[in-house]
Amino acid sequence: MSAEKEHVAINKAHWDGMADHWVALGERLWALEVPEWGIWHTPDRRAPLLPTDMTGMDAVELGCGTGYVAGWMARRGAKVTAIDVSPRQLETAKRLALQYDAPVTFIEGDAEITGLPDAAFDFAVSEYGAAIWCDPAVWLREAYRILRPGGRLSFLGTHPLMILATPQNGAACDFGLHRPYRDMGRIDWSDAEVEPGGMEFNLSFEGWITLFADIGFQVTGYRELYASKTNTTELEHVTADWARRYPTEHVWWLQKSP
Ligand SMILES: C[S@@+](CC[C@H](N)C(=O)[O-])C[C@H]1O[C@@H](n2cnc3c(N)ncnc32)[C@H](O)[C@@H]1O
Repeated sequence: MSAEKEHVAINKAHWDGMADHWVALGERLWALEVPEWGIWHTPDRRAPLLPTDMTGMDAVELGCGTGYVAGWMARRGAKVTAIDVSPRQLETAKRLALQYDAPVTFIEGDAEITGLPDAAFDFAVSEYGAAIWCDPAVWLREAYRILRPGGRLSFLGTHPLMILATPQNGAACDFGLHRPYRDMGRIDWSDAEVEPGGMEFNLSFEGWITLFADIGFQVTGYRELYASKTNTTELEHVTADWARRYPTEHVWWLQKSP
């Protein structure tokens, strides 16, 4: 790995170290018939990241973690490739793919430079994988390259508002603004109190929209996700009370020009 890819090395070490904590959630999500998304388990009807029928599609997941999204796509009939930088996360993903008899091709690698051929996929997806852990200017260009003309990409990640409302020490979101919105870019959680480590990325809305247009992606959909009115979950980094009032996640649906 080259020196300029410091964030990839940091995130790989971070996720290898965290992998054991994600096994139980991965097992629960692999078992679901209908997907649910993100930290509030948003129902699929509110945020349908995947095409309903994926029969015969070539699909790729970028930063697959424990691989349940890849598994859901395989169940919908896609031929699935899933890439992740963490060998420990991939151990879980491969075990669960075997258990569920899901024919997914797993690749250990960097979603910013996949090594996959040009125009090889009809569909790409990321839920908290490349979507937040990779440099958007790099991984989105890579996703564009490996998609066929007219191919689609959907991804779910942290809403910029939540980044602004998170104290620099990584404590739970509050009602202040803790960093500049301008040039948000790279967010270093090495010294965070909650889940220290990891280098995350986000952009302003202007930043996202401008980047999509520069690359050639058309925006076909966008949604901000909140905790539901009945949700009382208290996560370490955000409370349901906060997330009922402000969006914590967003989903983009994009299409490569035909
Ligand atoms: C939160 S998991 C995402 C998977 C799953 N959807 C989830 O929410 O648990 C984040 C994953 O992104 C992976 N990741 C981080 N940087 C990456 C990179 N440069 N290339 C590929 N995967 C990466 C991590 O190894 C980790 O498994």
